[in-house]
Amino acid sequence: QTGMFLFDPGFTITGSCASSISYSNAKGKLMYRGYSIEELIDKSSYMEVAFLLLYGDLPNQSELSVFEERIKDEMVVHEKLLDFYKGFTVNAHPMAIMCSVVGALSSFIHNTLDIKDPIQRELSAIKLLGKMPVIAAIAFRTSAGLPIVQPNKKLSYTENFLHMMFSDPMDSSFKVPKIFIEYFEKIFILHADNDQGPSTTAVRIAGSSLANPFASISAGVASLWGPMHGGANEEQLDVFTEIGTIDNIPAFLDQVKRKEKKLMGFGHRIYKNYDPRAKIIKQMCFELFYKLGIQDPLFEIAIKLEEIALKDEYFTKRNLYPNIDFYTGFLLRALQIPRNMFCVIFAITRSLGWIAQWREMMSEPVSRIGRPRQIYVGENLRQFVPIDERK
Ligand code: CMC
Repeated sequence: QTGMFLFDPGFTITGSCASSISYSNAKGKLMYRGYSIEELIDKSSYMEVAFLLLYGDLPNQSELSVFEERIKDEMVVHEKLLDFYKGFTVNAHPMAIMCSVVGALSSFIHNTLDIKDPIQRELSAIKLLGKMPVIAAIAFRTSAGLPIVQPNKKLSYTENFLHMMFSDPMDSSFKVPKIFIEYFEKIFILHADNDQGPSTTAVRIAGSSLANPFASISAGVASLWGPMHGGANEEQLDVFTEIGTIDNIPAFLDQVKRKEKKLMGFGHRIYKNYDPRAKIIKQMCFELFYKLGIQDPLFEIAIKLEEIALKDEYFTKRNLYPNIDFYTGFLLRALQIPRNMFCVIFAITRSLGWIAQWREMMSEPVSRIGRPRQIYVGENLRQFVPIDERK
């Protein structure tokens, strides 16, 4: 306590806002608008969850149809936006492209957008949801040197994303396998929101200055990219490749315990029991691998590593359990998603949570700029010395 304010680096005990969108707790509970994630995964589609997060309640059939149509109508991106992709090198990381192109949306939409108007704020949410999977799929195709595929109004939201990712322009009979759509619906739901994570906080702080929503969302994309946040799932597959065999797990864990390495996909600021999303993803891996006849030796290492870690005092004492990123990479790999797109998938789906949180913040009667304090540890007042007198 400084007398003036609380010193809380990393915001471990600071509540920055009141929100009714998602709730998570140490015991491993996650709810969206009061519905448990386990039930939503089982019973709802991603579009229903999108409606729920944006408007507070689940839609009836006609509300859902109108909502889906509105989003599809916003999927086409401006021709000029495509020019941005030409500036990137062929091997540019798709997240680098996402940071720039999502921000660039501001220049196409912001001029005509009045963020003080709730109707226009709602419209910007629809625009963002429509354009995110398109921008992401184009980022992938550009970085892979492949021709761009346009969205198709006949396809669902998730199917459209997969269609834009994987369609072969030479094969008009191409259809995204049903099982891929089924699993992606669930992956999208699981990543949609998780209260005030770093990227959501970044969006809220950027938006609190009354920056336009697309610039604010690009702050979220940038924050998500880091390996301690959404970038963990990309790094985590390297860990298992490095471990190589089950016999090497103890030696690797010794390095983690000596703090020479971090175990990616383990630990969470909120979940101090087990991340409920990790439980679901792990189960999805077992089911998908069985259905597709996949044997993934790295997955077997991960299972064994979890088993050993959860018996080890280093992890139990610190309440470190698998988080959502521990098993997601295996699932995405089985669904043919290249590694450099793992975090992009997270960004597409978390953009729903970001824009819902941005709208919630913007609808508050009194909005305050997000502006933490600091403890100054620099010099006291010093006398200025002219340059020719300096030693
Ligand atoms: N491997 C080894 N030790 C760890 C790990 C880990 N993955 N995570 C935390 N610890 C240790 C940490 O060193 C500290 O030890 P000590 O008490 O000796 O100083 C103790 O556990 C408490 O950790 P913390 O750093 O205070 O925890 P935090 O709440 O600040 O950080 C975290 C949470 C997720 C950033 C961290 O656990 C981490 O870096 N995990 C690895 C990266 C990762 O998987 N990130 C994805 C998070 S979930 C998806 C998302 O929402 O982004």
